[in-house]
Amino acid sequence: MPRASVRGLSWKEGSILTDDELIACAAAARARAYAPYSGFAVGAALLTESGRVYEGVNVENASYPVGICAERAALAAAVSHGERRFAALAVIADSPDVCAPCGMCRQMLMEFPIRRILLANTAGAVRVMTPAELLPCAFGAAALPAKEESDEISHR
Ligand code: THU
Repeated sequence: MPRASVRGLSWKEGSILTDDELIACAAAARARAYAPYSGFAVGAALLTESGRVYEGVNVENASYPVGICAERAALAAAVSHGERRFAALAVIADSPDVCAPCGMCRQMLMEFPIRRILLANTAGAVRVMTPAELLPCAFGAAALPAKEESDEISHR
């Protein structure tokens, strides 16, 4: 996986990878998808505002609902490394139209700021969307009652 920060590309509105390069990262990740049950391999690449790329693939399971989508795998990897602000997410699969994230992924993607989402397919179709376009009228933290910050570890 190309590490954006070592590729020496110039910054452009907070992003140091072009859309095509981020989609290429997602396509490279897709080769590592574990999808023996559906046969539908998905790759995702999440570009952080700090310029790093975290990739994710769908990881299926013999107990079908246990499997995780590529988008949530990428997000979990990034957050696990301390990243919470994202410039862009690319998702790619061999689908007739661009690969559209499932509802569960759309909800999870609303939790952290992501400026743009690039939906792609292996035939070269690309559609650029915002998280709000993917999930209008989303449920979010603002709907929950205010919680006092009493823990030692800050969760925000
Ligand atoms: N899948 C993803 O990983 N991302 C999507 O955007 C759509 C669906 C996965 C879940 C499952 O492993 C397979 O694709 C078929 O649904």
